[in-house]
Amino acid sequence: MTPQDEMMERAKAVLKTNDRGRFTVPAVEKYPHQWLWDSCFIAIGLRHLDVNRAQQEILSLFDAQWSNGMVPQMIFTPSTGIFQPHNVWQSWRSPYAPEGYSTSGITQTPVLAEAVVQIGEKLSPTERHNWYQQVWPPLLKYHEWLYAERDPYKEDLVVQIHPWETGLDNTPPWISEWQQYLMPWWMRLIAKTRLDSLISRSRSDTKQIPAEQRMTNLEVIGLSDAFLRLRRQNYDIQKILHKPYFAIADLTFNCVLIRANQHLKTIAAALREKLPDELVQSIKQTEKSLEELWDPASEQYYSRDFKSQKLLKELSIATLMPLYAGCISKDHANLLVKQLENDQVFGTAFPIPTVPLNSDWFNPECYWQGPTWVNTNWLIIDGLKRYGFKEHAAALSESTIEMINTSGFYEYFNPKNGKGLGIDNFAWTAALYLDLINS
Ligand code: GLC
Repeated sequence: MTPQDEMMERAKAVLKTNDRGRFTVPAVEKYPHQWLWDSCFIAIGLRHLDVNRAQQEILSLFDAQWSNGMVPQMIFTPSTGIFQPHNVWQSWRSPYAPEGYSTSGITQTPVLAEAVVQIGEKLSPTERHNWYQQVWPPLLKYHEWLYAERDPYKEDLVVQIHPWETGLDNTPPWISEWQQYLMPWWMRLIAKTRLDSLISRSRSDTKQIPAEQRMTNLEVIGLSDAFLRLRRQNYDIQKILHKPYFAIADLTFNCVLIRANQHLKTIAAALREKLPDELVQSIKQTEKSLEELWDPASEQYYSRDFKSQKLLKELSIATLMPLYAGCISKDHANLLVKQLENDQVFGTAFPIPTVPLNSDWFNPECYWQGPTWVNTNWLIIDGLKRYGFKEHAAALSESTIEMINTSGFYEYFNPKNGKGLGIDNFAWTAALYLDLINS
């Protein structure tokens, strides 16, 4: 067996260990539930091993879809105990929560249509038609929900109400917004008196992983407080957006939505289904509205605050996501690729850092504030290919594979030396490794 074959076997073993029959958990002990974008990336890898199982991974997400159309960010594995997440989230507070499932009350970056189409590529034309037919109603409903609930003023960019919705939990644009404007007085007091250290003992993540690689105690308190605000509103979006707390049209989320919309159109065309006129209009406009996020001075895109309408000019991996969206001009794409090439910006030894080197936030080992993640690389590789940057895409794919070959199937990696960080045997790292090798 070649070393490459051996690694492929190990990747399969990781997916098997995390397999719960109808869905896959991201990591056995650390993340024992189902997450939306994790399952999508996992399905993209699984399609090379067992396409039916990959389909199941996606269908299990739709099983817990809310009656208003939301596909939740997390679906909880049944468990007992008062502090189990289903008791903490209490999704039953919303009249739209599904029967028989406990979920979180928010969504996550919508990679669903991407996973559906990637799976479709592995099917015969008839099977693909059946597959598309099966997922069409819930997928359409999800996209309609995204616009109905998250674009109340028809700005054609959808708003996220918690950093967990982006999947990039402590990414600088969100955390800096919170630090500057949102943090309540009592939390500033906690920060000043260093009382946040009191929660160290109750944190389970830092028992398994060095604390420097995770969010700070204060960030954990801040994001938990932000979540409790949503729960107090019973996840009712009208109440939440009436007096918003976290409310940001996140760049990564909207870029992924733009690509997902393109896939939705592909699926509709294959099925000869007509998309509702209102949705067609929104889809068209979102691509245009992305240009409102462009800042000519710094020559890049940013997320935008929903209330103030100001661009949040903090650097992060989101900068490169318009490449994945695929609707920006070749000129803008060239400017973004220059940043990727620049060894003072995103061009590290093991790219792509989730925060560029020229940001004060850059920390090579801390979660979404610097480390390289395989899912964000996958999205950007896909975008580079579609813009014709074939060599860049191949180089990034190779360095990602090499990083995993050297360090293993970690959750994230140090972009300077490739060291594995976070939890080991992480499902999407294994799945996307298989996809990168097989693509
Ligand atoms: C963390 C990540 C998020 C992921 C989840 C499960 O919260 O930030 O992106 O979906 O873990 O792996």
